[in-house]
Amino acid sequence: MENNRIRISARDIVYDYPDGTQALTDINLIVHQGEFIGLLGANGSGKTTLLKILDGLIRDFKGSVTLDGSDIKRLSAKEIYGKMGMVFQNPDDQLFASTVFEDVAFGPINMGFPEQEVQQRVTRALADVEMEGFAKKSIHHLSFGQKKRICIAGLLAMGHEVLLLDEPTAGLDPMGEYKMMDLLTRLNRECRVTIVMATHSVDLVPLFLDRLYILRQGRIVRGGTPEEVLTAPEEMSQVKLRLPQIAELIYRLKHEDRIPFKKIPLTIGEARRELLEMLAKNS
Ligand SMILES: Nc1ncnc2c1ncn2[C@@H]1O[C@H](COP(=O)(O)OP(=O)(O)OP(=O)(O)O)[C@@H](O)[C@H]1O
Ligand SMILES: [Mg+2]
Repeated sequence: MENNRIRISARDIVYDYPDGTQALTDINLIVHQGEFIGLLGANGSGKTTLLKILDGLIRDFKGSVTLDGSDIKRLSAKEIYGKMGMVFQNPDDQLFASTVFEDVAFGPINMGFPEQEVQQRVTRALADVEMEGFAKKSIHHLSFGQKKRICIAGLLAMGHEVLLLDEPTAGLDPMGEYKMMDLLTRLNRECRVTIVMATHSVDLVPLFLDRLYILRQGRIVRGGTPEEVLTAPEEMSQVKLRLPQIAELIYRLKHEDRIPFKKIPLTIGEARRELLEMLAKNS
């Protein structure tokens, strides 16, 4: 964390959709400058609704959200989008231009950048998501995963300080998923972009996220570092999630086979170190 400056603060959020669905209840959440935060939860737990509230897309909620100390309900769309951008869960809700270039260029053009700078930003953003060479392609002819990448490129081209990402890796192939997380981590670490991301990718969480919040039926039931939150399989299944696979294996070895692991590693790297240490002791 660069410093402890609060970028987003949500207090006592309650939101019911017009049809009466109680989507969110008593949500409190804080995002500091430079953090990489995850929202985890089963289908229908309220992740997308919460991101839309943080982005000012839903405004008739109870409670308050501030962006850099200003009440989001009082900020204009332009003031919000100058700093913060959101990638929707479904790329078809986001992409609207006919070609890749037009779509990615839309943001920078509207931000008033000169033509040459727009070109540079689009080229760079397409390279970042490994979609160079697709500039002239029709949006309608892209695969799902390619569309997803173009959505992210559109945001990268604008250069926001805060990104809200709704399942950015869903629908990407395994390498694409890893590369997307790697790209987001680089943005976070090198460019100091603050990121809030909704995800189901439990295996990737401990590798990349600083902190996470777990949502269950519209409430935050746990929050903290991956080590604090991803503890026991039973607790995870109560919120319809699971542990990272490697953690599940070590957990079972420890509790069912009584192998004395000191802690439950969450990543393959940590598990490897623990195992080597144990093998060295035993030999
Ligand atoms: N426009 C809407 N009108 C009425 N109810 C809605 C609307 N959008 C979402 N909901 C309901 O609000 C609740 C939370 O939905 P939300 O889309 O925020 O969940 P989610 O955690 O993003 O789920 P997923 O993992 O499936 O994307 C669900 O019960 C859903 O049915
Ligand atoms: Mg969703």
